[in-house]
Amino acid sequence: MAPHVYVEDLKHHVGQEVTLKGWLYNMAGKGKLYFLQIRDGSGIVQAVVSKQEVAEDVFARVGTLKQETSVIVTGTVREDKRSTLGVEVGLKDLQILQLPTADFPISPKDHGTAFLMSQRHLWLRSKRQVAVLRVRHEIIKQIRHYFDSHGFTLMDAPIFTPNAVEGTTTLFPVKYFDDTAFLTQSGQLYGEAGAMALGRIYTFGPTFRAEKSKTRRHLTEFWMVEPEVAFMDLAGDMDLAEDFLVSVVQGVLANRRPELEILERDIAKLERVQKPFPRIRYEEAIEILKKKGKETKFGDDFGADEETAISEEFDRPIMIHRYPAVIKSFYMKRDPEDARLALALDVIAPEGYGEIIGGSQREDDLAVLESRIAEHNLPKEPFEWYLDLRRYGSVPHAGFGLGVERTVQWICGLHHVRETIPFPRLMGKIEP
Ligand code: 4AD
Ligand code: MG
Repeated sequence: MAPHVYVEDLKHHVGQEVTLKGWLYNMAGKGKLYFLQIRDGSGIVQAVVSKQEVAEDVFARVGTLKQETSVIVTGTVREDKRSTLGVEVGLKDLQILQLPTADFPISPKDHGTAFLMSQRHLWLRSKRQVAVLRVRHEIIKQIRHYFDSHGFTLMDAPIFTPNAVEGTTTLFPVKYFDDTAFLTQSGQLYGEAGAMALGRIYTFGPTFRAEKSKTRRHLTEFWMVEPEVAFMDLAGDMDLAEDFLVSVVQGVLANRRPELEILERDIAKLERVQKPFPRIRYEEAIEILKKKGKETKFGDDFGADEETAISEEFDRPIMIHRYPAVIKSFYMKRDPEDARLALALDVIAPEGYGEIIGGSQREDDLAVLESRIAEHNLPKEPFEWYLDLRRYGSVPHAGFGLGVERTVQWICGLHHVRETIPFPRLMGKIEP
């Protein structure tokens, strides 16, 4: 039998006979000629079936094919300048592995999103969804590559945790034998322990928030990468976030242009993601909003509308720093120059995609951190180990968290975050 070749490698086999293993994506033609679109996960290729060139039974079998029939095809690879692949296959033989027992629920025509989401396990086979998943994989690869090549050690944080990190209102409780535990909201606190051991670490894992908001940016389960660095201040944290993000976006552009083209992404906008990113203080952001006629005042948190309005003023990601401490988490260090402010940092993606990074310099003083825990009405006992980090050789340190799905949403240019993860978990949605 001719060697098995993946669609993406066909261009290296022009003139040869090959075997393809895949599924029927689409099909056209009748009479003496069929045009099959065969997908195998690595790409889609056209296979041409001519009545004169194949055995009678093969031609008859082709006539029975349905969308998503699993097939093994042999044929000759031919150059085809019109195809984006540069090749097509002249079919010689076709075996059916399984003929679907019913019509595939997702036809090439348009379907509503609610229906597609209910068929997510099958929707993943479509060209656009495959492109999104490939870009997602590339983003994750670039994230890991950046930290792995900059002296960071990957450190996994636990998923079952005894306490809140990012506020008590978005915790998912789970039964943990006779106790209650919570699914982690962020690996950060453990990352801080890791930074004191290894200097520079990153955690990378699933995180959970019982977000009661049904927006196009909120998932209840999402992936977050969180670098944490000993002896780093807020300015260093901003430099790191900027360098990291440029590296990820440019890496994706270098390797996944065809997928971004399938998604009809405006690539020029991504090419503009270069240093330096504008750095504006929270209070300057408030001024921008006021100039644009938005009613806001010191102490307000920014929602999607505000973030979009601010991002419209710039052509690349922006860093907003020094937010009011009252709207930020307990662990953030206060600005020594203005105690109302936290040494916090958010990175807002351009084009209205909103916050993709949240970070800060951490409070490193034992007594101050103890009083913050009390002010936030958090129980002290579960934080004793975290306070130990301030008891034994405390140092200035900082870090941030990047949400993978929000980043995929921005880079792919997707309206809703639910298409950025294979099986999204949203408020009111846990299936399939
Ligand atoms: O700003 P957040 O809440 O920051 C933290 O969790 C810090 N502990 C991180 C750190 O300093 N190590 O979340 C960080 C990022 C957000 O900017 C956003 O990209 C993403 O996580 N995120 C969500 N993504 C999808 N759905 C949600 N419900 C999200 N909540 C946060
Ligand atoms: Mg945040």
